[in-house]
Amino acid sequence: MPALEVRGLSYAYGSMKVLDGVDFHVDEGEIVTLIGPNGAGKTTLLNVVARSLRLREGTVLLRGEDTGRCSQADMVRRGLLLVPEGRQVFGALSVEDNLLLGRYVRRREGRAGADLDRVYRLFPRLRERSRQLAGTLSGGEQQMLAIGRAMMGAPRVMLLDEPSLGLSPQMVERIMDALSQLRDQGVTIVLVEQNAFAALRLADRGYLLQTGRIVGSGSSENLAHDPTVRHVYLGSATDEGGDDAGSAPPGES
Ligand SMILES: Nc1ncnc2c1ncn2[C@@H]1O[C@H](COP(=O)(O)OP(=O)(O)OP(=O)(O)O)[C@@H](O)[C@H]1O
Ligand SMILES: [Mg+2]
Repeated sequence: MPALEVRGLSYAYGSMKVLDGVDFHVDEGEIVTLIGPNGAGKTTLLNVVARSLRLREGTVLLRGEDTGRCSQADMVRRGLLLVPEGRQVFGALSVEDNLLLGRYVRRREGRAGADLDRVYRLFPRLRERSRQLAGTLSGGEQQMLAIGRAMMGAPRVMLLDEPSLGLSPQMVERIMDALSQLRDQGVTIVLVEQNAFAALRLADRGYLLQTGRIVGSGSSENLAHDPTVRHVYLGSATDEGGDDAGSAPPGES
């Protein structure tokens, strides 16, 4: 049974329909990426699943259980957490206080030490900066903090909206590596990225969203070579994208 399953999800802002009958699922312990161009509806989709936006049409199941009228807080209690676009850390609080707040949203009982330690092992840089004000962290460090804060809620399913936005290639690699470690620890991950080829390198499977509809899906390997994906991304993507676009001399491997 999938960790998360979405069926027939549609959403409109006023009269403008931006999601139209979206279906996808994520199995336990998988990383699935949702890729698609600007305005495709990726952020809206994550926000509806996490209930930052109201679910009006469609079904969202967590381990087979219908989440019906759940609020965002209910979803968090059921183990689904969203790391929204733009990091949104509390700049005037220390790194550690930001992390402790992440624990509070899940109403976790007991001592925080083990939870903090798990985050600090994944992101040693946050341990070094635990007393620094979050607002003075670099962009990449703030992204680590946003992920760490979600980890403090002990999620089963983590949704991430463009965690690599605006980061250097090395920082993108570190974030992707952290997500891979989280998956190894059993967290199921839905990753929204414009950095499609970086996302596909990490993910097990992916879906291509275009103007509110899923227009392609498959293993990361297949999607990375899919003509539609390449058409959407090559030339418009900001990353290296064309790593194997056929420009390598024949015989090279
Ligand atoms: N609050 C809003 N009110 C009206 N329209 C909105 C609102 N938020 C998003 N939209 C529109 O909905 C569509 C989907 O937006 P969304 O942010 O979900 O796309 P996206 O795939 O995340 O894009 P990007 O890659 O640029 O982040 C866009 O056309 C956008 O202009
Ligand atoms: Mg977006």
